[in-house]
Amino acid sequence: MAWTIRQFERSDIESVVEINRTCLPENYPEQFFLGLYYHAPKAFLVALVDDVVVGYIMCRIERGMSTYGRSPVKKGHIVSVAVANGQRHQGIGSDLVKAAMMAMIGYGASECFLEVRKSNEAAISIYENLAFEIKRLLKGYYRDGEDAYLMTKKLDAAPEASIDAGG
Ligand SMILES: CC(C)(COP(=O)(O)OP(=O)(O)OC[C@H]1O[C@@H](n2cnc3c(N)ncnc32)[C@H](O)[C@@H]1OP(=O)(O)O)[C@@H](O)C(=O)NCCC(=O)NCCS
Repeated sequence: MAWTIRQFERSDIESVVEINRTCLPENYPEQFFLGLYYHAPKAFLVALVDDVVVGYIMCRIERGMSTYGRSPVKKGHIVSVAVANGQRHQGIGSDLVKAAMMAMIGYGASECFLEVRKSNEAAISIYENLAFEIKRLLKGYYRDGEDAYLMTKKLDAAPEASIDAGG
């Protein structure tokens, strides 16, 4: 099955909200998704199969102390990623993460991070295959009390011309 990945468009909002609702316990109002889109549009991506949205990833560009050094850096935060149940295990999730990392580099991020449920083996396995490492255990991170892993990855050298994330 072939898929394509492109930037999120406003008209994708209903599909993305629906995929989020059916795939994850962390759900958000439309405004939250649109806020991330306006903040970093190039790092909000959707995957399509036969012109139907089957997955998304959305990210925030944050500033903070480097996980790998002592200087302040821009970090890409993968806020949410999901692929519709019937379209999993084909590589779509990995492709979304890879494309988002390229976009985050474009925004000048030199590292990226995410939180993932300790029990979410599928997601942890994808991130490990993409060279993320578990940095810390975040005790009781989720509303239902489950712990999260904080996973981080150094991003390859940012291109010379970086674009500003809004918001
Ligand atoms: C996590 C998720 C996005 C993965 O999407 P996907 O399109 O199935 O991912 P991929 O096909 O790229 O899988 C890549 C790798 O993950 C691993 N993987 C996938 N599903 C797995 C599972 N159920 N158990 C263990 N490993 C799994 C495999 O190692 C696979 O590599 P392979 O193709 O070499 O075997 C998808 O399972 C999903 O939407 N889950 C619900 C939402 C979620 O948990 N989001 C992440 C929150 S942090």
